[in-house]
Amino acid sequence: MSLKLGDTAPDFTAKTQFGDIAFHDWAGDNWVYFFSHPADFTPVCTTEMGRTAQLAKEFAKRGVKPLGLSVDSPEEHVEWIKDVNETQHTQLEFPILADEDRKVSELYGMIHPGESETASVRSVFIIDPNKKIRLMMTYPMSVGRNFDEILRVIDSLQTADKYGIATGADWKPGDAVIVPPSVSTEDARKKFDNVEVVKPYLRYTNL
Ligand code: BEZ
Repeated sequence: MSLKLGDTAPDFTAKTQFGDIAFHDWAGDNWVYFFSHPADFTPVCTTEMGRTAQLAKEFAKRGVKPLGLSVDSPEEHVEWIKDVNETQHTQLEFPILADEDRKVSELYGMIHPGESETASVRSVFIIDPNKKIRLMMTYPMSVGRNFDEILRVIDSLQTADKYGIATGADWKPGDAVIVPPSVSTEDARKKFDNVEVVKPYLRYTNL
């Protein structure tokens, strides 16, 4: 099965370094940043795990729980996390799935045989409190992810949900937002103070 935006994120139970979790119950009413990486004790992954831990307050501020995954064991996670904390000057406190039988990796399409037959690639799933998949990104093994972009996407999705707007290229919080095509200019003017019509299909407003 190949997952698509808007699908319900498949539920599962799996081991982590803190014990077993049932995914939907663990997620509760939060957003989830679910991300896979190829293997413990590897350099790019070490920086990504460290960055996720360093950004704990930024994720919490947005109501987002991080959840990692690799195909290594809980015992290996525990040992490797010591290295992550030491080298990245942080305290990693979020769970990392120990997907040794690749059950969850297969369920979420995280194994890309062109990259590796056995290890998961760098997948990202942003999942909303209704358990819907709102964003999917796939990075190759050699490229560490950009965490500014991950937070930016979460900000954009949450702003869009709250105000019924869209966001343009390189948008960041505080920038003008876009009135989506489904909203008439008349309705947009009732809803927002300033609506700038650049073209009938290109309309900006400030929140
Ligand atoms: C890494 O995380 O450093 C890595 C893992 C697999 C292939 C290349 C890099």
